[in-house]
Amino acid sequence: MNRVYIKTYGCQMNERDSEQVASSLRDRGYSIVDTEHDADVVLLNTCSVRDQAEQKAIGKAGYLKKRKVENPNFVLGVMGCMAQNHGSSLVDRLPDLDLVVGTQKFHRVPDHLDNLIQSMNGQGPRPSSIVDLAEEAGSQNTIRDHIGKAGQVSAFVSIMQGCNMNCAFCIVPKTRGRERARPIEEIVDEVTGLAESGVKEITLLGQIVTSYGRRDFPVVGGKSPFVQLLERIQDVKGIERIRFTSPHPRGFKQDLVEAYRDLSKLCEYVHLPLQAGCNKTLRAMNRPYTKERYREIVDSLRAVVPSMYFSTDIIVGFPGETEADFAESAAFFDEIAYDMAYIFKYSIRTGTPAETMPDQIPQEEKERRNQVLLDMLHKSSLARNESLVGTTEQVLVEGPAKKGDKLVGKTRGYRNAIFDGSERLKGQLVDLKINRATASTVYGDLVLAGVDA
Ligand code: SAH
Ligand code: F3S
Repeated sequence: MNRVYIKTYGCQMNERDSEQVASSLRDRGYSIVDTEHDADVVLLNTCSVRDQAEQKAIGKAGYLKKRKVENPNFVLGVMGCMAQNHGSSLVDRLPDLDLVVGTQKFHRVPDHLDNLIQSMNGQGPRPSSIVDLAEEAGSQNTIRDHIGKAGQVSAFVSIMQGCNMNCAFCIVPKTRGRERARPIEEIVDEVTGLAESGVKEITLLGQIVTSYGRRDFPVVGGKSPFVQLLERIQDVKGIERIRFTSPHPRGFKQDLVEAYRDLSKLCEYVHLPLQAGCNKTLRAMNRPYTKERYREIVDSLRAVVPSMYFSTDIIVGFPGETEADFAESAAFFDEIAYDMAYIFKYSIRTGTPAETMPDQIPQEEKERRNQVLLDMLHKSSLARNESLVGTTEQVLVEGPAKKGDKLVGKTRGYRNAIFDGSERLKGQLVDLKINRATASTVYGDLVLAGVDA
């Protein structure tokens, strides 16, 4: 009765929330298993950003409920964004759900499961579903006790919850609530603990990290709370690399640009969501910047670190995006020459302002625009990776590659790197002479100075 499988959909924040739920369940005596087949309890941690992600989870829940026929005590739960988005109407649609837990209630999962299982073991009728979706002040502070797993090289650390922006297409403010920051000291303690357990790379997570603590903590010496946090993490012994996702162009000020110059551990890779490269579309999306301002940020980052890598999120087929608007957006996208990009076809989200906007774009047209950007991305990422051939890149070794007997790691620019070497190198920083590249991966040979390969 106590084997739990957690399936995670969506973003890295969801991954991190699932880890947290898993660790709190382990503390309560549950065991976390790797496949749904071995589990007595399946929890789906869901995503609502696009319809497709919700449909996947609904399909999965529909499939899993059959397990109840053979095992009446099988427990099925839905957590996270889709739970928050649809609330108790989810139980109307999926009456077999035992547990529906919102984004501010992850820490309550062990109690709810205990209660469900206890009443199932009793003689009485099967308990009704537990639905827990309320807001909870301070829920961001329930994220803690994050201990690196043995051999873990890289870890996500959640620094805040929620988002106060109102992008016209986005459901996240509804599912994740208002911005709430964790205190700097708690985050630094968590990172220190991770470093002590062997973690070398930290990725700070938040929906809008550039807003981190801006109402809770003062600006000091011209530096925002987020930059102050980066400086503190730079000082944590054992941490070799710092990354974060995602900043917002509006909050990307000079102090953050200069952090790339001043903080040696901050990797020269910026994920800076663009959403559209056309001012008319940006306005319609309620994104408070212009493409010219975005370009300024890119230029100022390239001025301090010429080799800076750029990644983005961009949406094609936003309502009212004409052929000319898209052409403008695509030209801007091409001009930045992104190293990585997540290209999304606009998906209608019920309750958002864009839902009722006129001139929705047909699906085939979204597909076409998507492909145009994918082709551009392929070219720019291939060109960038090819430019690395013949150079030496620092790689953090993650471990054995999926295929063959090679090792895999990441460069500071977040390129996948594949090479020959001993598994003992896992967790180490090595130098790699690059000899071949594709759009997604670079290949090379270890530079064997002081390295026991
Ligand atoms: N601020 C968050 C954004 C979360 S949503 C972050 O930067 O991590 C992640 C991405 O999904 C957004 O940047 C946007 O490009 C995309 N997205 C959000 N709503 C969408 C929608 N309705 N249709 C298509 N893509 C969407
Ligand atoms: Fe969504 Fe815009 Fe916030 S994309 S998460 S509302 S910055």
